[in-house]
Amino acid sequence: MAIKTILALTPGHPGQLEELEKDFQILRLWREDRPEDAIRKHSNNIVALTTFLAPVREQLIQALPNLEIIAVGAVGIDHIDVQAASKRNIVVTNTPDVLTDDTADLGMTLILTLLRRVVEGDAFIRAGLWNAQSFPLGRSPKGKTLGIVGMGAIGQALAKRAEAFGMHVHYTGPNDKNVHYTYTSDLVDLASKSDVLALTCSANESTYDLIDYNVLGHLGAKGFLVNIARGSVVKQDDLLVALNNRIIAGAALDVFEDEPQVPDAFFSMDNVVLSPHIGSATYETRLKMGKLVVRNIKACLNGQKILNSVSA
Ligand code: GLV
Repeated sequence: MAIKTILALTPGHPGQLEELEKDFQILRLWREDRPEDAIRKHSNNIVALTTFLAPVREQLIQALPNLEIIAVGAVGIDHIDVQAASKRNIVVTNTPDVLTDDTADLGMTLILTLLRRVVEGDAFIRAGLWNAQSFPLGRSPKGKTLGIVGMGAIGQALAKRAEAFGMHVHYTGPNDKNVHYTYTSDLVDLASKSDVLALTCSANESTYDLIDYNVLGHLGAKGFLVNIARGSVVKQDDLLVALNNRIIAGAALDVFEDEPQVPDAFFSMDNVVLSPHIGSATYETRLKMGKLVVRNIKACLNGQKILNSVSA
């Protein structure tokens, strides 16, 4: 009998592939010199595919005639062609909830890092400037307004943290949620009121390039942008212009338009904090995400109830 094979596009979370390897053959695509040939060779045996942030497009789905599940080791699924998968009745799963707290922690960390100039302070000492100059003052979070774009699980977890630091929380999104923060349906209105605008929404057609020069203009010269959502939510070229011309005070970015490519222009900006997409990147959380991937694949292939399926 043919060995059931799982196609892994990315290395997986701690323990994930090792656990799956007990029952399945794993094709680790990133190790292959000729990935397309490897897929062709194993295509009939591949019943599951797992990825973290590597995209799954229709062409790949079509190349796998016996594929039953695409198990994404992330909560965001904007890099997956869910519609193409659904057309073939292929299940798509993600890893929600387990990463909410760590991602919100990173959001709060970035807010504080910007307001308190932590990265600038580090560079200041390393440059040997401490003896010669005084370090510029930061800003307190207390009393400031945090505007959150996307009041889902991560947005709510971030709001809770911001409240603990004395911030006022306002938010926008498609719906007024049943939460005690101030809602506006108008993003420009939210940007105008915010000292810090934090992006926690999903990436989809309605949030593509949502944050453009106009929104940044309303955030204003004292305002900071924090992006822990996806790079596609921000018009990156507009952000670069806004930062360069001090249209906004600064930005902290955990995600970028074309990861892992980051425009060189960011590197020389002292009002920018750069972070390599690490919202969920703690050992504890990645272990949980890996376990969900394993559970979802096994449930699907064994005909059991699948808990984290998403639809187009
Ligand atoms: C990470 O960005 C995720 O979507 O889980």
